Amino acid sequence: PIYQATTSAPVNIACIKYWGKRDTKLILPTNSSLSVTLDQDHLRATTTSRADPSFEKDTLWLNGKEEVIADGGRLATCIREMKYLRSQLEQQKPDAPKLSTFPVHICSFNNFPTAAGLASSAAGFAALVASLAALYELPATPSELSRIARQGSGSACRSLFGGFVAWEMGSAPDGSDSLAIEIAPREHWPDIHALICVVSDDKKGTSSTSGMQRTVETSPLLQHRIGTVVPARMKAISDAIRARDFDTFASLTMQDSNQFHAVCLDTDPPIFYMNDVSRAIIAVITEYNRIALETTGKRKAAYTYDAGPNAVIYTPKENVREIVELIVRYFPQAEKFKDPFSLFGVAGVG
Ligand code: DP6
Repeated sequence: PIYQATTSAPVNIACIKYWGKRDTKLILPTNSSLSVTLDQDHLRATTTSRADPSFEKDTLWLNGKEEVIADGGRLATCIREMKYLRSQLEQQKPDAPKLSTFPVHICSFNNFPTAAGLASSAAGFAALVASLAALYELPATPSELSRIARQGSGSACRSLFGGFVAWEMGSAPDGSDSLAIEIAPREHWPDIHALICVVSDDKKGTSSTSGMQRTVETSPLLQHRIGTVVPARMKAISDAIRARDFDTFASLTMQDSNQFHAVCLDTDPPIFYMNDVSRAIIAVITEYNRIALETTGKRKAAYTYDAGPNAVIYTPKENVREIVELIVRYFPQAEKFKDPFSLFGVAGVG
């Protein structure tokens, strides 16, 4: 028999950012975070896993290229944890084939350029864990799987759910309570769309992993952020999502992106992720919201930036066309060139 399974996982974009680890090996964060998962059909990783006793060793191909599975590294940890769950199932069901003892071949593709720095590792590790769970026929819930995906890349734990997802930081030293939970399913608020503006597809200068560690070690502002600001924001944005209150959602999302980039600047030596185009997009969205606030009392769009210069703009569907036109008017290169600025696409989320 052939033991094989294929699954996909979408990209997620955080509104309340994860930045900082209290345990770098288990990937336990210094604060909870919250994200929106994009629709499956836009930005996703698709992974096929096959178990076979004739394979020599565990092997991974990423977009057609073989990746090294370093001993004790993040990939090896995820594969080992998934095989352990399978071995527990085999103990309960003695007739089940001993897949936990077979090497696995894993093959993963992104339907978007990895180089664009668009949270490709989040979708990648989520799809890897989900495909092994399907291969091993595990009865695990998405939250249980998120605990394993977290050990591949922190933000990956949030891609096991669609819609609005929180990663609860937890407090247990073994990480057993540091996992993703659903705040609201995508159907709860399908009106929100994400517009992804690829400002640059350069590989980023400072990786998230090393950047956030430097922030933990050197930024005094981070202590204020994790102790006071984020706990209040997690509650406020969850309430805003439940109430479908876009104005509050937008305000908190932009404030949190700004504070995340402020703690990067507060790091020694400082880390700069946004560039002049990123800042110009902030100015355009700020002006757009100023006019909306004057006429209706409510914001119409929210920008957010991860560890790179690319903008993600959240907005209700009715504004998408207007914002695309606005961006193209101010950044004519968005229409003409793929580089350095291309509109990567409009992704429905919710
Ligand atoms: C700015 O999840 O890539 O996108 O856990 O070290 O793999 P590691 O870091 P990673 O960091 C993501 C940081 C962020 C914010 C977020 O997604 O919450």
